[in-house]
Amino acid sequence: MDRNLALDLVRVTEAAALGAAKHMGRGDKISADQAGVDGMRKMFDNLDIDGVVVIGEGEMDEAPMLYIGEEVGRKGPKAPAVDIAVDPVEGTNSVAKGLPNAIAVVAMAPRGCLLNAPDMYMNKIAVGPKAAGKVHIDAPIHENLKATAEALNKSITDLTVTILDRPRHEDIIRQCREAGARIKLFSDGDVAAALATCFDYTGVDILLGIGGAPEGVIAAAGIKCLGGQFQGKLVAYSDEERERCRKMGADLDKVLLMEDLAKGDEVYFAATGISDGEFLKGVRYTGHDMASTHSVVMRSKTGTIRFIEAIHKLNMKPAYAY
Ligand code: FBP
Repeated sequence: MDRNLALDLVRVTEAAALGAAKHMGRGDKISADQAGVDGMRKMFDNLDIDGVVVIGEGEMDEAPMLYIGEEVGRKGPKAPAVDIAVDPVEGTNSVAKGLPNAIAVVAMAPRGCLLNAPDMYMNKIAVGPKAAGKVHIDAPIHENLKATAEALNKSITDLTVTILDRPRHEDIIRQCREAGARIKLFSDGDVAAALATCFDYTGVDILLGIGGAPEGVIAAAGIKCLGGQFQGKLVAYSDEERERCRKMGADLDKVLLMEDLAKGDEVYFAATGISDGEFLKGVRYTGHDMASTHSVVMRSKTGTIRFIEAIHKLNMKPAYAY
């Protein structure tokens, strides 16, 4: 695939972030999501790809745009056939309430390389490059904490575990506390939280807990580019979900490794901050019809990580005129 595609992808997440950020704190997560979807969808039409959305806004009958199976991109004879995973607003509640960690995010890989994850929950573990290969989702929590602390050359008491703040995580939180680790709870957005484990400056060392399975695929794609480690296991809370897994041939006992979630070495990832987060700043409106965005764009083949600060003259970009 063309290396410049990675840079094209960032335009897609910038457009989604610029759309969604207008709705920050307005208490309306549906409008925020819609604005993110609209921005992202428009930009996809400028990309020289033959894309199919494998993770998107839902099934065709429940989402007007970026639905699973939707074809995106300009196509053409030279356009690579790719899978696309999108979350135009990862953290819709955070945008609606003006809370941190919301991002617009896209992952892309050759056709057939991104797992078509069912819309259910996934148990997750994520660590950065230094602790990659040292943890396992089936290992006891204290062992994973010990292994991560050793890999980072620090004591468990200096380790920071980040966990989605949900009642279902009471037991994980208790076990982390008993092991002596520090904990950083977050209200939403476990893609950004998983990626934060790969950047020293975030101070976050390991992510544990259950979040959305589609978000798990997106996080795995990003972590692959960053050289960290992500593992997931689907979690079914009802007979209906168990039945859905059975029909899809998805095994609830299977440990999903990075190769299961985002296969191969041609994985692309782009994300733009909507609200301020651990590793990306949110959209700023700087006056005179201008706004700034902060994005990360990565490609697993080369491992290059680019942070891009962009200043957008909104009145000169019809696609950004929300
Ligand atoms: P949305 O943006 O789709 O609302 O997802 C936000 C999120 O926090 C994800 O990051 C996470 O994986 C999932 O929700 C957790 O689900 P739940 O809110 O049901 O615990």
